[in-house]
Amino acid sequence: MSLKTIDLHVSVEDKEILHGINIEARPGELRVIMGPNGSGKTSLALALMGHSSYRITRGKIILDGEDITRLPPNERALRGLFLVFQNPVEIPGVKLEEVLKLSIKKRLGRRECPDIKERIASEAELIGLSREHLERGINVGFSGGEKKRSEILQAKILRPKYVIMDEPDSGLDVDGIRIVADIIKELISTGRSVLLITHYPRVLEYVEPNHVYVLYRGRIVAEGGMDIVERINREGFKWIEEKEEGKK
Ligand SMILES: Nc1ncnc2c1ncn2[C@@H]1O[C@H](COP(=O)(O)OP(=O)(O)O)[C@@H](O)[C@H]1O
Ligand SMILES: [Mg+2]
Repeated sequence: MSLKTIDLHVSVEDKEILHGINIEARPGELRVIMGPNGSGKTSLALALMGHSSYRITRGKIILDGEDITRLPPNERALRGLFLVFQNPVEIPGVKLEEVLKLSIKKRLGRRECPDIKERIASEAELIGLSREHLERGINVGFSGGEKKRSEILQAKILRPKYVIMDEPDSGLDVDGIRIVADIIKELISTGRSVLLITHYPRVLEYVEPNHVYVLYRGRIVAEGGMDIVERINREGFKWIEEKEEGKK
């Protein structure tokens, strides 16, 4: 079981942005994609979710053995894919609390959950959101950090099989980062798979990844373990740049 890309090429309009990506995310693991701004991280996340502007021109996406390359986003979501957006959108008219309630009810099936409102409120509080946030339209009028918290709360309550997080740490303070790390730990310890996308490895001070990929100009140019994170911490992405420019 895994989420995997095979030689994935992605274009926006007529420009190719990703040039043959091979990555894999597995249940019970944290895998990380790091890369400087503009390297194609968000494009990869959106292509994995099936965003129509990110056209797959070659290669495949395989989810638990099934080819999902041509499936629409809702079908991917039904199969357990969830994306924590880098820039979450506002959805007026759809209350955060309602969405969370529905997902809990769906999971429980016929079983009753009389204190569902209280449970949601206490989960929200743990992540730094109040009852008042739950009553608003999703992300409407939320600050950057609150939007991130609301997306992460959805991931935590929905408990999808594969969670892709696009820079969940940006715009969060130290406490927020610790909360994100705790949620990642909880997700992987319950057999979920987390694919964390980030250009700055602050979350990784609190949770160790199983594997790290480095994306540079639309290609995976290095992969490995914590040694790569430590090098990026020390030297930034300059060594990657030099290594790649040296090849030309
Ligand atoms: N919707 C889009 N329209 C035009 N160009 C885009 C679009 N999305 C991404 N790109 C381009 O693709 C490249 C990679 O962007 P992105 O995936 O956002 O990188 P990252 O998330 O690593 O910062 C950039 O050069 C960016 O300008
Ligand atoms: Mg991005």
